[in-house]
This record gives sequence, C-alpha cells and structure tokens, in this order.
Amino acid sequence: MGVNIERTIDAESADALSLMYRRAFEPLRTLTATKQTLDDSEFRSMLDMDQVMKFVGRTGDGTPVALAMMTSELKLIPWINPEFFIDRYPEHHATGRLFYIPTLLVHPDHQRGHWFVGLVKEMSLVAGAVHGVAIMDCCRYNDEELGFLDMIHSVADRHTHHSFEEVDSQRFFALCPDGLRRRPVDRS
Ligand SMILES: CC(C)(COP(=O)(O)OP(=O)(O)OC[C@H]1O[C@@H](n2cnc3c(N)ncnc32)[C@H](O)[C@@H]1OP(=O)(O)O)[C@@H](O)C(=O)NCCC(=O)NCCS
Repeated sequence: MGVNIERTIDAESADALSLMYRRAFEPLRTLTATKQTLDDSEFRSMLDMDQVMKFVGRTGDGTPVALAMMTSELKLIPWINPEFFIDRYPEHHATGRLFYIPTLLVHPDHQRGHWFVGLVKEMSLVAGAVHGVAIMDCCRYNDEELGFLDMIHSVADRHTHHSFEEVDSQRFFALCPDGLRRRPVDRS
C-alpha cells in the first residue's frame, strides 16, 4: 500500500486507471474552458510510454486509487508549447531536469485521504533530488475553489526548498454584441 513509480502498467491496471481518470475529472466537465483530459487512446499511450513516469497509489490489495504522471519529454504534452518552457529553463531542459506534470488525480472514493500527499511527496523527491523544475497547469476553478495550487505548495514544502511561481496564463473573453449600431462609429 502506498505510492510507487511504476515503469509498466498491466492491462487490468490500465483499465482501472482509465476509468478512475474519467470519474475524477467528470465534475470539471462544465467548469473549465479548456479540456482537462486526454482522450482514452492518448491516456493509455502515455501510460505505456517509458519516458513518462507513472506515480501510482495502490491500496493493500493492489487496487489503483491515485495517479500522477511526470515527464521530461515536453513534446508529449499535446496542449503546451515546449519552446516556451525550454527557452525559460534551457539548462534544466538540456540536462533532463525540466519536467511536466500532465495529470494528478485521486479516485473520487479515496479523496481527502493521504493519497494526494503521497503523490506530491514522491514527485517532489524526484524533481528535488536533481534540482529540477516541475511545470503544471491549473484551471481557475481548481485554483480558486479547490485551493489546488496552495495544496501543491504546502505539501511540496514539507519535502523541498523551492520557489513556486506562475510562468504564464491564458484568459478567455466573450464579446457579446447587444444589437447593431444604426450608424457605425467613425474613427477616422
Ligand atoms: C485535486 C485532487 C487530486 C485532490 O485530492 P484530495 O485527496 O481531495 O486532496 P485533499 O483535500 O485530501 O488535500 C490534500 C492535502 O492538501 C492540503 N490542503 C487541502 N486544501 C488546502 C488548501 N486550500 N491550502 C493548503 N493546503 C491544502 C491538506 O492539508 C491535505 O494534506 P494533509 O492531509 O496532510 O493535511 C482531487 O480532488 C482530484 O483528483 N480532483 C480531480 C482531478 C483534478 O482536478 N486534478 C488536478 C488537476 S491535474
């Protein structure tokens, strides 16, 4: 029982993790402007990749109940622009110490236990041991309503000396026309 880095994920575990992934992110379906999940084939192929570290929390009988992934292959993350991060942390990238955390979740039936703490601890130890940089993204809902970033910071703080800063953000705007002007405003 606990969180371990697993190199290969057997088929039965992959099925359980895939189901857990869908269930954990279901509440965010209508709460965020960008998709928070990979599709099933993308998710499973990430589970299969050697370059992706899988931090898996399992109960005593081996049932997976928590998962985080971390990789230094930034090009594997479909929604980011690796060049932005590489430009910002060139030495970390060149030495394989620039990591991305594409997902982190706890099975809905096991949340508010010790699993989140276990995942963040193990990832902090891996990144901390090499003085790395671990990048993650967070939707506004998880930040403001769940306190996700504070949670990460407070748990990582138990294991590493670090700074924790926002490196970029993307906002969404709605232009809502409320009728047409009778005569366009002349700006000339
Ligand atoms: C985000 C998620 C992983 C959190 O897991 P959880 O089990 O509910 O986490 P908990 O509420 O038990 O909190 C874990 C720790 O953070 C700390 N914490 C919780 N809220 C906090 C806050 N607002 N500020 C600081 N620390 C906080 C807690 O103290 C706890 O540590 P402790 O048990 O040692 O005291 C879980 O809600 C989830 O899987 N959500 C769906 C997927 C998702 O949105 N993932 C994140 C984006 S990738």
